[in-house]
Amino acid sequence: MWQTKNTGNEYTTKSKGEKTMKVIYTKSYAELSEKAAELIAAQVQGKAESVLGLATGSTPIGTYEKLIEMNKAGKVDFSKVTSINLDEYVGLTGDHDQSYRYFMNDKLFNHVNINKENTNVPNGVAADIEAECKRYDALIEEKGGIDLQLLGIGHNGHIGFNEPCDIFEKNTHRVQLGETTIQANARFFGSMDEVPKEAVTMGIQAIMMAKKVLLIANGPDKKDIIEKAVNGPVTPQVPASILQFHPDVTVICCFE
Ligand code: F6R
Repeated sequence: MWQTKNTGNEYTTKSKGEKTMKVIYTKSYAELSEKAAELIAAQVQGKAESVLGLATGSTPIGTYEKLIEMNKAGKVDFSKVTSINLDEYVGLTGDHDQSYRYFMNDKLFNHVNINKENTNVPNGVAADIEAECKRYDALIEEKGGIDLQLLGIGHNGHIGFNEPCDIFEKNTHRVQLGETTIQANARFFGSMDEVPKEAVTMGIQAIMMAKKVLLIANGPDKKDIIEKAVNGPVTPQVPASILQFHPDVTVICCFE
């Protein structure tokens, strides 16, 4: 594994064969958000019917704000886009203000011209969660897979809610959230008891089969885990490290 400098703050990390990871170091969250939004907009401009894999969390909020601006300015049209979100908490309905369905409506879908019927988030209150996981994988397949998958990264290296584990979980599945994830999420809930302990998450296969992956990470506290994910050994103990085997990954980070 080695890094070559391209231009400015862009580096390419080469792993095996032709596979490369492009890492862009930005100086501010605004710059990170702008670059990420530009890449997503370029995807949609190039293919109006794009299937976008989307993420929640604090990191993509600025990216979504930029996309809203671009949509309002007529620069990007979401009318034919399908979105497929990574994950949802088990037990939260879509109208709970901490559910990921609520987040997506509030931070993006309510403000752009996407057809809500074409937006997909796992149903965390499905009577049969295992059946919901199967439905979600079938949906991804029916849509022809994901064109561009946006990812954040947890401090423990999780992508979606694929937590550090002994294996890479292939399919959409129900997951017990790790202690660090529960702690990190606690800031959004009134008490520890209210913080969901389980989620439904897209598996590693759908992420790895996305044609392009865009991973964004913001803040000095994400520096170590990005280093492990990009340059460390590929291991399910750092789920994001699997991206070293993906042929088209762009990482945009700001560690300021
Ligand atoms: C959210 C998700 C998570 C977050 C990650 C980083 O849909 O899948 O993997 O991307 O926990 O969260 P933030 O951006 O809040 O640091």
